[in-house]
Amino acid sequence: MPHPHIVIIGASSGMGYALARLCLSKGYPTAMLARHTAPMHTLAAQHPHVPHAVAQLDVCQTATIPEVLQNTLAQLKGMDVLVHCAGYGVVNPQLDYRIEEGMIETNIKGFTAVVDWAFQYFQQQGKGHLAVITSVAGLRGDRHAPAYFASKAYQISYLQALRHKAHKAGLPIYITDIRPGFVDTKPMEGRRFWVCSPETAAAQIFKAIRQHKRVAYITPRWRWVALAMRIAPSWLYEKVM
Ligand SMILES: NC(=O)c1ccc[n+]([C@@H]2O[C@H](COP(=O)([O-])OP(=O)(O)OC[C@H]3O[C@@H](n4cnc5c(N)ncnc54)[C@H](OP(=O)(O)O)[C@@H]3O)[C@@H](O)[C@H]2O)c1
Repeated sequence: MPHPHIVIIGASSGMGYALARLCLSKGYPTAMLARHTAPMHTLAAQHPHVPHAVAQLDVCQTATIPEVLQNTLAQLKGMDVLVHCAGYGVVNPQLDYRIEEGMIETNIKGFTAVVDWAFQYFQQQGKGHLAVITSVAGLRGDRHAPAYFASKAYQISYLQALRHKAHKAGLPIYITDIRPGFVDTKPMEGRRFWVCSPETAAAQIFKAIRQHKRVAYITPRWRWVALAMRIAPSWLYEKVM
C-alpha cells in the first residue's frame, strides 16, 4: 500500500520538525509549512528521494491559507493526513493584551482557518485524517497564561465538534487530539517536570495517528495529570496551582 501523504503545519521547529523528520525518514511524502522555511529546506535536502514540499505560511494571515495549501497540495500530489503543530504560548502574568492577542491570533483564528480548510478538503475527498497538537493545558484555566490555556480549551472543543460533524456525515474522517504535557522544545526551556524530548513526542504522535486515536496524551502518564485537573475541586486547584 502506498504511504499516506502528510502535511505538517508548524514543521520548522519543535514537535512538528521532529515529526517531519520521522515521516521523511520512513519515506512518507511530506509537506512542511511554517514562517521560517530554512530548517525545513535543510531537512528536505537530507531526504532528496522522498517526495516533499516546503512552503512559507503564517497562519495568522488567514486569507492566504487556502492558496498556500492548494499550491502545496498540488506539489505533494494530494493530502491524506494534516497535522497542525503551529502554536504560540507564553506566560503573561501582567495580562498584557498584546501578548494575549498573539495567542488568540495563532491558536484560535489561525487554527480555525486551517482546520476548517482541511475538514472541507477531506469532506470533498470523502476521507482523511486531521491531527492537532492541543495541550493538557486546555483542560482547566490557569492564572499564569490565561489566553494560552483558554485557546487550548477552544481547540479541544472545536475538534470534538469536527469529530461529531464527520460522524453525522458518515465519512471516514478521523480527528486526533494530541495533548502533550511538557516537551523539551523552545517555549518550554528550563521546565523539568515529566518532560520528554521532541523526538519521543514525535514517535508517540506518529503512533497515535497510525492507530486513529481520538485523544493521545504525550507522554501517556500525563493522562493522570489530566484526570486530576478535571476532577480537582476549585478550592484545591486554586490553592495548588
Ligand atoms: N512544548 C510543550 O511542552 C508543549 C506542551 C503542550 C502543547 N504544546 C503545543 O505544541 C505545539 C507545537 O509547539 P512546540 O512545543 O513544538 O514549539 P515550537 O518549537 O515553538 O514550534 C511551534 C511551531 O509552530 C510554528 N508557528 C508558530 N506560529 C506560527 C504562525 N503564525 N504561522 C505558522 N506557523 C507558526 C513555528 O514555526 P515558525 O516560527 O517558523 O512559523 C514552529 O514550527 C504548540 O501548539 C504548543 O502550544 C507544546
